[in-house]
Amino acid sequence: MTNPNALCVALDGSDHAWILATARSLVGHAGWLKIGLEAFIAFGPRLVEEVAATGPLVFLDLKLHDIPATVRGAAANCAACGAQMLTVHAGGGRAMLEAAAEGAREGSRGAPPKVVAVTILTSLDRPALGELGFENRPEDLVTKWARLARESGLDGVVASPREAARVRRECGREFLIVTPGIRPADSRVDDQRRVLTPAEAIRSGADILVVGRPITRAQDPAEAARRIVEEMATG
Ligand code: C5P
Repeated sequence: MTNPNALCVALDGSDHAWILATARSLVGHAGWLKIGLEAFIAFGPRLVEEVAATGPLVFLDLKLHDIPATVRGAAANCAACGAQMLTVHAGGGRAMLEAAAEGAREGSRGAPPKVVAVTILTSLDRPALGELGFENRPEDLVTKWARLARESGLDGVVASPREAARVRRECGREFLIVTPGIRPADSRVDDQRRVLTPAEAIRSGADILVVGRPITRAQDPAEAARRIVEEMATG
């Protein structure tokens, strides 16, 4: 069965008209739209409202990472501007993760947004992690940080689809796994390192697939999204 609700399209860019036009073109083709730092810094909370008004749920991906009190306030404000999902860096540690979950509850008008932790960026491979002093294999770090996120009361993690199966085993069925780093077989890898196809990501246990450039840079984003949802269904 094809299910666009499991597709999240990343609207990365600094062109306000393009972001809204792309959001409108994807109505019915993606259950979620993601606003990241680039667009949020340019257009702020109002953009969250404008994108939400096109229909899909908004995933506000600001990857918060600071002391607990600051993250608590920031998470509350993300919730207040209407985001239904937000991100924090798992590397901020247990107290910060707990504060993020509390802030999201405090700031929401209705049901609190999902708070998911970014484990290891999919653009970091083992040599890049080694350079930062992390000697563990990326998948070991991801699992360890995912467990910490769950223990801290978060709803899930952002992880590479290559690590999704392990996170699912460690953290259980209810834990949300959001996976970027998705590339259809015929598409460019861009700056991602640890990528899988949409079908592989679904097979590995991912709940929501985040796809940016393969859709937003396609001549017909709606058609590209439709094909990805079709590919997901084969997983
Ligand atoms: O264009 P592409 O499909 O590579 O976009 C992936 C999106 O997912 C980007 O918005 C990027 O910021 C985000 N992301 C990621 N890796 C993470 C967390 C978020 O690529 N670990």
